[in-house]
Parts: sequence; structure tokens; C-alpha cells
Amino acid sequence: MNILVTGGAGFIGSHTLIELYTAGHTAVVVDNLYNSSKESLRRVKAIIGVDVPFYEVDIRDREGLQKVFSENQFDCCIHFAGLKAVGESVAKPLEYYENNMNGTFILLDVMRNNGCKNIIFSSSATVYGNPAMIPITEECPKGECTNPYGQTKSMLEEVLKDVQKADPEWNVVLLRYFNPIGAHKSGTMGENPNGIPNNLMPYITQTAIGLRKELGVFGNDYPTPDGTGVRDYIHVVDLAKAHVCALKAIADKAGLAIYNIGTGHGYSVLDVVKAFEKVNGVKVPYSIKPRRPGDIATCYCDPAKAEKELGWKAQYGIEDMCQDSWRWQSQNPNGYPKN
Ligand code: NAD
Ligand code: UFG
Repeated sequence: MNILVTGGAGFIGSHTLIELYTAGHTAVVVDNLYNSSKESLRRVKAIIGVDVPFYEVDIRDREGLQKVFSENQFDCCIHFAGLKAVGESVAKPLEYYENNMNGTFILLDVMRNNGCKNIIFSSSATVYGNPAMIPITEECPKGECTNPYGQTKSMLEEVLKDVQKADPEWNVVLLRYFNPIGAHKSGTMGENPNGIPNNLMPYITQTAIGLRKELGVFGNDYPTPDGTGVRDYIHVVDLAKAHVCALKAIADKAGLAIYNIGTGHGYSVLDVVKAFEKVNGVKVPYSIKPRRPGDIATCYCDPAKAEKELGWKAQYGIEDMCQDSWRWQSQNPNGYPKN
């Protein structure tokens, strides 16, 4: 298939390009480079030997997007483009709602006008709020999101469901990612956060390399085995492969389909720190800090549905994730050079 990849220069999008081409598909990237640089696409080229066509276009730019569709024929869109920083979304709600909601509305309208009615959407475990069951199956009711970023994911899921209901020619696959970490095995591609990282793994790697003094562990009084928060960390390459497998649901004309994309294993913050130190032979100084507002104790999924229906299952474990994240950080202490 020929796939439109919005946000394809970003962390998950760039890894997905590699898996798409490896599986025999082709892609075109649309990205406004707000949170990425062209360097990620150069690194993709170094791995797959293909210069993936790239348009520096904002998905809210209707004319720009129409030009992309006029020049290409797409079988499906994998829609990664969006703003994703939870804390920033609390400070800048309008910017987050405007970019994520409006961008998706315009994308869907342009897709429809050009006869492309297949979409795989990057959703998040955040839509479960404080989950009503552990492990979380897709049957688990959605919960209350504590921040505007999460709200955009939850609302866009409903928008996409309504679009599919109104016109059954649409095939919509909602992938609810758990916690993506890790990096490509080559060490040439990985996560490139701007400023102080919000997420655990980039904070660990930046601490290990000396860019940060110590990791703050947000709370050790949760009802978990060691008191620190438990999450379902998933290797970004496994997550990228899930998108290739999700194309099966598109080819099968699945209508609406929802999948959890995680490993099904929960690791605490201290489990991750210990695994990282052990597998990489480096120290991660840390101290216990107060809980972070909005955090939940435990979040891990039952990924059986994706295995049964898509034939997708995570291959990599926590040690691979720690090793690959560290290889990327140590080979690229300052991330990608700017454009
Ligand atoms: P990322 O920021 O690395 O990639 C997103 C890309 O979208 C960036 O390259 C950015 O420049 C681009 N973009 C943003 N707004 C745009 C716009 N209006 N027009 C064109 N391009 C635009 O983030 P990521 O980690 O690769 O995440 C990809 C998707 O997965 C996002 O939708 C994110 O919300 C979702 N997701 C991520 C996580 C995670 O922890 N990384 C978890 C769950 C869901
Ligand atoms: N944590 C720390 N110190 C840090 C950063 C995180 O102790 O410096 C802890 C958190 O308290 C939590 C765990 O590490 O227990 C994971 O935190 P992350 O910020 O890495 O991930 P979250 O589970 O909070 O959030 C992530 C994404 C969101 C997404 C959510 C659910 O960042 O975008 O998963 O999918 F919505």
C-alpha cells in the first residue's frame, strides 16, 4: 500500500517508516517539523536506502494538504501528527485543542474529498483515565482524562467513530499505545525531546549521561509492589510494527477497530531504573519526590486482541528497551542536530 504518514518525522512516525518499507509498503510524510527535524528522515534513508517523499506542511493547511493528495494516491493514512506533551497541554489548552482537533478535522475532510477513507489513529492508554480494570482490555470503559492532551485523544476517538458510523466506507483503526520507549537497534534513531524531558525513559538516559543531576521518582506510596508507578512500556520498534499489522484490519475492511498496543507487563519506576543500570552498567542517581498531579498508580494492558486479530505481539522486553534507549542517547548525546 502507499501510506500517508502525518507526523512521520517524529519519534514513532520515523520508526514506523522503516517497518512500512521493510514490509514492502511505500509512504509519503507530511510534517510541519514543530517537534522534529529533517534529520530523522535522513537517518531513515540511511537504514532503508530510500528517500521517503516529504512535504513540510501543517495538516491545518487545507491547500497544502490538498496539493499532497493531488500529487499522490493513498490507500491509507497513519495519523501521528499532533502535540503530545501532557504538562504543556495544561498550560496551553487552546493551542492543543486547536492543533490536534482542527488538524484532524481538516485531514479527514481532505481525505474524504480525495476518496481515501482508511485511517490508523495514534490514540493512547490515557483514554482509560484511572482504569476500571487491570489488565486493561479494549472493553474497559473510557475514563476521565486529567489534561487537555488526553482529552484531544479521547474526543478524536469519538469523532472518528462517528465519521465511520455515518459512512461505512470508512475503515478506522484506533491504536491505544501504552508507554513507548526504546530506539532503533542501530542507535541512529530515537526520541528527541525538547528541553527537560517529561517522560521517564528520556529523563533516565539524560541523567545517566550527565545532562541531569538525578532522576526524581514521582511518589513511592502508590499501592504497587514497591510503591512507585507501574506502566506497560513498549519498544518503539514493536509499536511501529503494530501499525504495519493494523493495515490488515484496513485491508479486511474492518469498519471500526480498537486495539491496545502494549506488552501486557507492568514495570515500576524502580524496576526500570534497576533494569537500565544492570543492562547498561551505568548508574542512575535518583531521589524520591512527591507524586506528580494526574498520575495513576498502575496501567498495563491485555494485548490479546491485537495478537488474535492482527497477528501482532510485542517481541522486545524491558532490557532491550533500556539497552536501545541508552545506545541512542550515548551515540547522540544532544539528539538530532537541528534540520
Ligand atoms: P512526536 O512529537 O515525536 O511526533 C509528532 C509529529 O507530528 C512531530 O514530528 C510534529 O512536528 C508533527 N506535528 C504536530 N503537529 C502537526 C501539524 N499540525 N501538522 C503537521 N505535523 C504536525 O510524537 P510521537 O511520540 O512520535 O507521537 C506520535 C503520535 O502518537 C502523537 O499523536 C502522540 O500523541 C501519540 N502518542 C504518543 C505517545 C508517546 O508516549 N510518545 C503515547 C501515546 C500516543
Ligand atoms: N516518572 C517519574 N519521574 C519522571 C518521569 C516519570 O517518576 O521524571 C514516573 C511517572 O510518575 C510514572 C512513570 O514514571 O509513574 C511513567 O511516566 P511517563 O511520564 O513516562 O508516562 P505516563 O504514563 O505518565 O504518560 C505516558 C505519555 C502520555 C500518555 C500516557 C498514557 O507521556 O502521553 O503515557 O498512554 F497519555
